[in-house]
Amino acid sequence: MSAALPVLDRLDRVRLVHGPTPLEAMPRLSDRLGGPRIYVKRDDATGFAAGGNKGRKLEYLIGAALKAGADTVITAGALQTNHGRQTAAAAAKLGLKCVLVLTDAVTDRSPAYHASGNLLLDRLTGAEIRRVPASTNVDEEMARIADEKKRAGRIPYVIPVGGSSPVGALGYAVAGEEIAEQSRALGLRPAAVVHATGSCGTQVGLLLGLAATGIPVTGVCVSRPKDDQEARVKALLSRTVGELQLDAKLAMLAVEADDRFIGPGYGQPTPGMIEAVRLAAECEGLFLDPVYTGKGLAGLIQRIREGRYRKDDSVVFVHTGGLPGLFVYDEAFP
Ligand SMILES: Cc1ncc(COP(=O)(O)O)c(C=O)c1O
Repeated sequence: MSAALPVLDRLDRVRLVHGPTPLEAMPRLSDRLGGPRIYVKRDDATGFAAGGNKGRKLEYLIGAALKAGADTVITAGALQTNHGRQTAAAAAKLGLKCVLVLTDAVTDRSPAYHASGNLLLDRLTGAEIRRVPASTNVDEEMARIADEKKRAGRIPYVIPVGGSSPVGALGYAVAGEEIAEQSRALGLRPAAVVHATGSCGTQVGLLLGLAATGIPVTGVCVSRPKDDQEARVKALLSRTVGELQLDAKLAMLAVEADDRFIGPGYGQPTPGMIEAVRLAAECEGLFLDPVYTGKGLAGLIQRIREGRYRKDDSVVFVHTGGLPGLFVYDEAFP
């Protein structure tokens, strides 16, 4: 049992995720890379609303919103946010209204990027979509919309970008705990757990869920330089430990981010991402996304090529979802 889960038992929760998600071997990918035994944690298969990591955070975030008596949730992200799609779907399922503040932050994208993929799914849920320029301060915008909704007699609950509040981050500890238990059952001691890191809640959750095992967690950055990302993960970790009154030692867990795979910017394709998406599909029939998991696996592949793991090591890649985004990047895979 991790140090985080007893606290989770006391928090309000709605059930969204079909868990535990599988931990599967990827022998053909391991062979192709001539590297360690690679396992994938299938959090693309969390089941609810086309899957992905945010379902786990939302079980507790929506639980907190309902406890606060909210009838409306407000969140924000890029136009193709997976978090927005899963939040809109969770709100629909629980009978809440949802407002999505979507920034048009990724340049040079196709018409499909501006109309389909996650955006299509958002529309189907009936969410109110507010598209704003890239320069918008979304926290201020969400606060402004919350005031507007209050004046209209509604009770809003603001969920931060990526669902990465302390409660959301702690919700992801369940995934770390599952990896720990499944590794034990398979007789593995992973040399690393590797995943894409953005708004930091996934990394904080994995660190907390795996804390008792000492298995290192590496976040592959999708948007920010290493120092900035590590500082943000540490800040959210320490807020989570403080606000949820976890063992203070957990705030000192080692945080590692690798920023070499972002390329020209968030949401911009890279050769490494394209290779990773292709290899996962060709070797394992596993579909990644271009914004997060493609870059995350590109990071793991490069680290394998650098000889960071021994051939008899095992490593775990966390597939955090995002498939709807693949369809709006078809031009990246001619
Ligand atoms: C598919 C996918 N993977 C990984 C992440 C990163 O998770 P986090 O924002 O918690 O760092 C996201 C966040 O939006 C995502 O949508």
